[in-house]
Amino acid sequence: MSLYELFTSKGPSGFGYGSTAEQVTEGLSLTGKTVLVTGCNSGLGHEAMRVLALRGARVVGTARTLEKAKAACDGVKGETVPLACELSDPKSVRACVAEVKRLGLKLDVILCNAGIMALPKLEQAHGYELQFFTNHIGHFMLVTGLLEQLTDTGRVVMLSSAAHTMAPKEGIQFDNLSGAKGYSDWKNYGQSKLANLLFAKELSRRFAGTKKTANAVHPGVIQTNLGRHMNPVMGFFFGLFGPLVLKSVPQGAATEVYVATNPKLADVTGRYFADCNEAKSRADGDDAALAKKLWEVSEKIVSELPAS
Ligand SMILES: NC(=O)c1ccc[n+]([C@@H]2O[C@H](COP(=O)([O-])OP(=O)(O)OC[C@H]3O[C@@H](n4cnc5c(N)ncnc54)[C@H](OP(=O)(O)O)[C@@H]3O)[C@@H](O)[C@H]2O)c1
Repeated sequence: MSLYELFTSKGPSGFGYGSTAEQVTEGLSLTGKTVLVTGCNSGLGHEAMRVLALRGARVVGTARTLEKAKAACDGVKGETVPLACELSDPKSVRACVAEVKRLGLKLDVILCNAGIMALPKLEQAHGYELQFFTNHIGHFMLVTGLLEQLTDTGRVVMLSSAAHTMAPKEGIQFDNLSGAKGYSDWKNYGQSKLANLLFAKELSRRFAGTKKTANAVHPGVIQTNLGRHMNPVMGFFFGLFGPLVLKSVPQGAATEVYVATNPKLADVTGRYFADCNEAKSRADGDDAALAKKLWEVSEKIVSELPAS
């Protein structure tokens, strides 16, 4: 496929690689809807927040600190509610959950967008590898804490990545969640993104019999602050050629915004999307037993975290 074909081709949804978040929501009114977006201060999260607010949604924008969330929310037109949510700090995640409840916010969508990628050296939080803890455990705590705030037709959208295919062969290394028995920047990032995908699958299974949905997305490859930890040589080539061959931020935010809002996806759950269309994940991304085990292990991890 030529680059031109890649950028212009459309899938069965009518959207494709080159579609932007504004295009996938054109004509859609989100007035009366409330959407929580994590990582609202940068890259895809900021663009998703901007477009959701533009279409009339009230956006609860979370960032590591309230100052960052406020500054990001101030930068978009529409109704926004800034909140702090540092995903690697259970106390901050619990405080965010408590604040959403205190404000009485009913959520139509929880968009788990925040993430870190390819940390060059092993870093940990509470004894767990930091990408697994931030990208998966932080969001697991947030979403499970907010389930009663989700409306009857509420949607949970998890930012996974095509990089989930870089996860270890065995899927999730349950005997090495600390990373102490071996660490690799991309393999561990891949593991955290496979965890995001498996979480959506298991949540979808638990939503069975309701009208709530849970799906996962790969946004594409986009030059954002996500590359800040990347190997400098790779970073240099990304910087040089990125704008020519990668998706733009508006294109990168399209798939998450599409899955969060498109009326045709009201009954679609437990799926994986890329370029605004359903896509195929790695085989074990569909492994129900693995997804169930990850949920149970995550529950145990959360139950053992310090209460304050
Ligand atoms: N860009 C791509 O090519 C690509 C490809 C596949 C998947 N993704 C996924 O897309 C999502 C968005 O990435 P992006 O490209 O927009 O990256 P980005 O510009 O770096 O934005 C990431 C966001 O996550 C926040 N974040 C990081 N660590 C956090 C923590 N401990 N607690 C709370 N928030 C935290 C960041 O906050 P700070 O700014 O304060 O650090 C930022 O707001 C990520 O989940 C990523 O894995 C991106």
